[in-house]
Amino acid sequence: MTYRDLNTPIRTIMTPGPAEVDPRVLRAMATPVVGQFDPAFTDIMNEVMEMLRALFQTKNKWAFPVDGTSRSGIEAMLASVIRPGDRVLVPVYGRFGHLLMEICERYGAEVEAVYTEWGTVFEPAEIIRKIEETKPSIVAMVHAETSTGCMQTLKKIGHACRERDILFIVDAVASVGGTEVRVDEWCIDGVIAGTQKCLSVPSGMAPLTYNDRVEKRIASRKKTERGIATEEELKQQSDIFIRSNYFDLGMLQDYWGPRRLNHHTEATSMLYALREGLRILLEEGLEERFERHAFHEKALIAGIKGMGLELFGQKEAKLPTVTCIKVPEGVEADSVRSMLLEGFGIEIASSFGPLHGKIWRIGTMGYSCRRENVLAVLGALEAVLIRQGVPVNRGEAVQAALDCYMKPAVKAPIEA
Ligand SMILES: Cc1ncc(COP(=O)(O)O)c(C=O)c1O
Repeated sequence: MTYRDLNTPIRTIMTPGPAEVDPRVLRAMATPVVGQFDPAFTDIMNEVMEMLRALFQTKNKWAFPVDGTSRSGIEAMLASVIRPGDRVLVPVYGRFGHLLMEICERYGAEVEAVYTEWGTVFEPAEIIRKIEETKPSIVAMVHAETSTGCMQTLKKIGHACRERDILFIVDAVASVGGTEVRVDEWCIDGVIAGTQKCLSVPSGMAPLTYNDRVEKRIASRKKTERGIATEEELKQQSDIFIRSNYFDLGMLQDYWGPRRLNHHTEATSMLYALREGLRILLEEGLEERFERHAFHEKALIAGIKGMGLELFGQKEAKLPTVTCIKVPEGVEADSVRSMLLEGFGIEIASSFGPLHGKIWRIGTMGYSCRRENVLAVLGALEAVLIRQGVPVNRGEAVQAALDCYMKPAVKAPIEA
């Protein structure tokens, strides 16, 4: 039996992840594999740690990727800091807040959740009140909710946590590399990024960083190995040691740090990919990259509004890397997405739970965040909506975006 050559269609990917992978990253992935303890490879590991510190704008000692998708990083962070019975406050404003709650529960936390309507975010004072009321030892929350296209301000919450000696853990999977995430300045103790979003690297690694407060907690939960500890010691430890081997950040530290103790077998080609993604990002410059994301977001919004469509979500809380659009009355949201994919090779996203069928989500992340992609998605969406009989302002979407691109005073920051 023979199978056809792998031959995937060329797509314009405008979802909130995965974003298109930078061709340079794809080329780096074809680099020959070397052993994980080969000095040629451990040098690469050290470089990636250094580049991650720059990405996270942190002086933290620990910054490395966990192998697995973004939730592997989230799970590693939570598994490593939550001791069974710890009270964890999780403010929820979309689907990924629920994911944090679920992971916290699985690791034995007593979870206190606070909710706000999808499409809105919290006033920091509200969270601080809840902190006062519930006295958690950890606050875990999402910075950028891809499910609603909203972004939570974190600085005041981070400072409030630090003043009360509470650990502040943040899922910044959809924001890191696309918009500002100031880990040290905002007093974030542990934060997780995503490769498949604003870094334009395939899914499969979860970069994270944490400070000495988290490191101290991890050190207090170190497991003495079976065969070394006495049975009595093992029994005493069982309440505190990290309930995962794969996600034990203490063990990962021993592998990523100078001891180089064997843990898992490193995903070599993914690390090449991450290194190249970070190299591209640092060549572009963090500030320039954030500006590029904001610049194309503006053109996209102008086009959407020009067409006569409405945005979803609290305006001041809009996440620059994801734009949510209300599906016009009577339109079958998924059939529009199918026509875009089949007719134009363009992928946009639906949303989850209460928002499924109610909004479309367009991602402008990393390598996907380019002028040609924004113009293509606007032109195609308009065409599909006209076919579906929606009374859009014909011809205005692309023109409105072009007006943004052609404003003489504004130059496109780096056209990828
Ligand atoms: C904000 C946020 N957190 C976590 C995740 C989970 O990431 P993954 O699917 O890579 O495990 C996603 C994925 O879309 C996300 O958008």
